[in-house]
Amino acid sequence: MPKRTDIKVRFAAPEDAEQMSAVANSNFVPLEKLSERAHQGFTIWPRDQNDYANCIGSSSHVAVAEDADGKIVGHILAYDIGVFKQIAHQSGSKNPIHQYKEYPDTSIFLDQITIKPDHHGMGIGSMLDAFLRAHAPQSDLWITDIVHKPVKNEASVAFFENLGFELQDEVEHDGWILGIYEREIRHA
Ligand SMILES: CC(C)(COP(=O)(O)OP(=O)(O)OC[C@H]1O[C@@H](n2cnc3c(N)ncnc32)[C@H](O)[C@@H]1OP(=O)(O)O)[C@@H](O)C(=O)NCCC(=O)NCCS
Repeated sequence: MPKRTDIKVRFAAPEDAEQMSAVANSNFVPLEKLSERAHQGFTIWPRDQNDYANCIGSSSHVAVAEDADGKIVGHILAYDIGVFKQIAHQSGSKNPIHQYKEYPDTSIFLDQITIKPDHHGMGIGSMLDAFLRAHAPQSDLWITDIVHKPVKNEASVAFFENLGFELQDEVEHDGWILGIYEREIRHA
């Protein structure tokens, strides 16, 4: 039985990319099975290891959680919006975030969080978010998008709402309906 006390969070390094891809794929669910996984969460766009290596190289907001044996059991992938715009421009991707609003370059887009299924519910996702927040103290605005249709990613919605994210709107993207969520951090 995995124990939360054995988990360490640290910034990702390029050599983590292969394990990150494996973790994301462990939560991949084909379209016809999505409804069975709404309450555990699902990754619909896992990337290959080269993509993860590129993300690690481009962003200072990528972190992994590893167990006592040094095996990666989860990761969080986020970018400054300015960096994310460049990545999207280079890859030709049309992320709905850019079409939705002109966010300040210093805001952070939380692209993907994924924990190995046998480690869900242990607080690891929350640890990863806390780690990024602690290392990006001047970022006031955090943004993420979550699949709402054809099946709502209920686990992900509950997870992000628990962290203070609030639904702003729904947008259509490649046949999916995505909820746009924001979290504003107010400094004391
Ligand atoms: C969603 C996900 C990242 C949550 O990570 P986690 O480490 O399991 O979450 P935590 O243990 O830190 O949970 C913190 C809080 O979030 C909420 N939460 C997390 N998972 C939940 C679930 N399946 N159902 C309802 N609420 C949930 C709860 O409020 C929980 O607090 P509690 O344990 O006191 O009830 C994880 O389930 C996952 O990887 N799912 C598959 C991939 C995915 O859906 N990623 C998001 C889209 S990219």
